[in-house]
Amino acid sequence: MTSPVIEAVDLRKAYNGFIAVDGISFQVRPGECFGLLGPNGAGKTTTIRMLYGYSPASGGSLRIFGEPLAENLRVIKQRMGICQQEDNLDPDLSVEQNLLVFARYFDIPMRLAREEAHSLLLFFALAGRAGTAIRELSGGMKRRLMLARSLINRPQLLILDEPTTGLDPQSRHQVWQRLEELKATGLTILLTSHYMEEAARLCDRLLIMDHGKVLVEGTPTELIKRHVGREVIEVNAPSSAMLDFLKDKKIEHEAVGPRLLIYNQTGSELFMHLNQELSCAGCSLRHATLEDVFLRLTGRELRE
Ligand SMILES: Nc1ncnc2c1ncn2[C@@H]1O[C@H](COP(=O)(O)OP(=O)(O)OP(=O)(O)O)[C@@H](O)[C@H]1O
Ligand SMILES: [Mg+2]
Repeated sequence: MTSPVIEAVDLRKAYNGFIAVDGISFQVRPGECFGLLGPNGAGKTTTIRMLYGYSPASGGSLRIFGEPLAENLRVIKQRMGICQQEDNLDPDLSVEQNLLVFARYFDIPMRLAREEAHSLLLFFALAGRAGTAIRELSGGMKRRLMLARSLINRPQLLILDEPTTGLDPQSRHQVWQRLEELKATGLTILLTSHYMEEAARLCDRLLIMDHGKVLVEGTPTELIKRHVGREVIEVNAPSSAMLDFLKDKKIEHEAVGPRLLIYNQTGSELFMHLNQELSCAGCSLRHATLEDVFLRLTGRELRE
C-alpha cells in the first residue's frame, strides 16, 4: 500500500499548560478527502496549524508526504495548499493581486501566475471580480478567493479549515462541486467542517474529536451505522404509554427537550408498530445522519 500523505501519531499541543490537542493519531491516504469534525474548541484548528507548521507540536510525530514535517517544512509547504479559518487576504490589494502576490511565495513565474489566477477565478466564479478591492467583496466572495488562493501552487495536499462557513447555499453547493472535481484529479484533501451534510458528502473518512481527543473514526456510513443505526423516529411530546413501551422493550432513545429520538436499525418496522399499538400522532421517520452521530457523541449543550 502507498504511504499515507499525512501521518500524525500521538500529536499534542499545549498552550501555557492548557492542552488543546491531547494525543491524536490519524492517517490520510493519497487521493482521499479526510474530515476533522468536532464542536467549537475541540482542537481542529490547532491540529491543522501543526500540519502546516504554523504552530509547532508540543509532542508526537508528524509525517507529510512520508517525510518528517519539522525537518522538511519548506519543501513540504511547496506541495501544500492551505485555506485558514480566518480571513487573511491582503485588504490593500485587489482580488487578482492577492493571488499574484501569493504566487510569488512559490516562485511561480508571473506569466504562469496570471494564467493560474485567471483560471482559478473562473473556477470559483470570481472572474468578474479580478480588479475588485478586497473590502468590496462579500464574506462569501472572500471565502471563495481564499479557496482559489490555496490552489495557486497546484498543491498535492489541500488543507481547508471550514471551507464553506459563511457561504450561502448556492455558493456552498458550488464549492462542494469544485472540491469533488479537485478530488477526482487525485488531490488529497483534509478539511474541518461544522456542516455534517458537507462532511457526509465530501469525506471518504473522518474523525470526530472533542477536548483535544479523537472520539471516533470511520467512513460516514460506518459511523452512522455504528453509533445511531439506520433510522430515527422523532416523537413530539411522547405519551407516558409510549415512554413505558420504550423502557419495557429496552429500545434505545434520547429525550431532547419535549422531543424524543428513537434510534433503530429497522426504524420503519418499529414505526409501524408504534402507530398500531400507541397513538403516534407526532411521530415521524427519517434516515439517520452524521449530525445524529455528532450530537450523540459530543452532547447537546452549547460550548462557550
Ligand atoms: N493561541 C492560543 N493560545 C491559547 N489557547 C488557544 C490558542 N489557540 C487555541 N486555543 C485554545 O485551544 C482550544 C482549541 O481551539 P481550536 O481553535 O483548535 O478549536 P476548533 O476545534 O478549531 O474550534 P472552532 O470550531 O470554534 O473553530 C480552545 O480551547 C482554544 O481556546
Ligand atoms: Mg477552528
